[in-house]
Amino acid sequence: MNIIYLDNGATSFPKPEEVYRFMDHFYRNYGVNPGRSGYDLCLEAGNLVEETRKMLTEFFNGYDPNRLCFSYNSTDALNLAIFGLLEPGDHAITTTLEHNSVLRPLYHLSLQGVEVDYVPFESRGFVDPDEIKKRIKKNTRLVVVNHASNVIGTVQPVNEIGRICREHGVVFVIDASQSAGKVPIDMKDMNIDVVCFTGHKSLLGPTGIGGLCVGEGVNIKITRAGGTGVRSAQRTHLEEYPYRLEYGTPNLLGIAGLHAGVKWVLQKGLENIHAHEMKLTEMLVRGLKEIDGVTLYCQDDLTDHISVIAFNVDGMEAQDVGIMLDVEYNIACRTGLHCAPLVHEQLGTDRIKGAVRFGIGPFNTEEHIQTAIQAVREIAEFQKKKKK
Ligand code: ALA
Repeated sequence: MNIIYLDNGATSFPKPEEVYRFMDHFYRNYGVNPGRSGYDLCLEAGNLVEETRKMLTEFFNGYDPNRLCFSYNSTDALNLAIFGLLEPGDHAITTTLEHNSVLRPLYHLSLQGVEVDYVPFESRGFVDPDEIKKRIKKNTRLVVVNHASNVIGTVQPVNEIGRICREHGVVFVIDASQSAGKVPIDMKDMNIDVVCFTGHKSLLGPTGIGGLCVGEGVNIKITRAGGTGVRSAQRTHLEEYPYRLEYGTPNLLGIAGLHAGVKWVLQKGLENIHAHEMKLTEMLVRGLKEIDGVTLYCQDDLTDHISVIAFNVDGMEAQDVGIMLDVEYNIACRTGLHCAPLVHEQLGTDRIKGAVRFGIGPFNTEEHIQTAIQAVREIAEFQKKKKK
């Protein structure tokens, strides 16, 4: 039996064939250290890096390709942004929808005198922009928001939040881990100062590559230093972007894969991919809702939603449901707290060790969804019989 992969919230799998092919071709033929020397292979590798900066800057409607800095993933990007923007005595506002990639850096900074406010999401899973506005004060330096939740899938009103931040002169950072490649991100229109993204989810690249798209006038402090390939005699790290936030040999193989992944998304059309995934998500939600003994953590209306759904089978721990889905049905999903403990705390699911999460990707089919619904139905029935 072939695996039914519904863990696209963790990473997209499989990747488009074009991504595997381009990675193999590029690394085999040009896999040298870009930007370090002047021989042809090195220039060719450097060109791909610069082209990919340009492609991603356009993708996010950013300002300047030199302000597109590569990182390992979005956690790395968020660490660079958060530690590079805050000083003791500053105030930051975030939400209870955040992943540990935001919560943990902020927690560490709170031990060093940064004040942090957490805005809860309302019952439908959205943060009210006015609740952010109310908390802005004189020393508020940063608002950082999870664009699309990796647990409940809701897409936050970043447009409105961005407008508020711009009016108050507060830097606005989004965690686009789950949204980049699924929903449009327009830095200019949405007044976003920094987009932190990963390459291996809906941008369909490999793991180990991500980045930050930094807006004009945003100066992220240098918190790491190292080789840049240029001006080697300078003792301190280079101030100008992209070097400012890049250190050491870049992940050329990752950049090649990300290049091919974004190209694929652009060719298929982000709206078409999203429409396909949401059609399947609606089918999944309808099917799960009909099952007696299943609690779903989403609304009927899936507007402003991505293809990530969380649920529990009443009376069972999420982990046991996950094991049954894997062992009995060959369905891959993620269970537990999903590195987002405050979401589960607010849902009350922390008390039952989290939830089961299905994440739908571009290569899932209606048949996958029907099989998943049937599997959950059988598990819920099994649980009910056990209780009797
Ligand atoms: N952050 C990823 C997830 O939600 C790994 O599964």
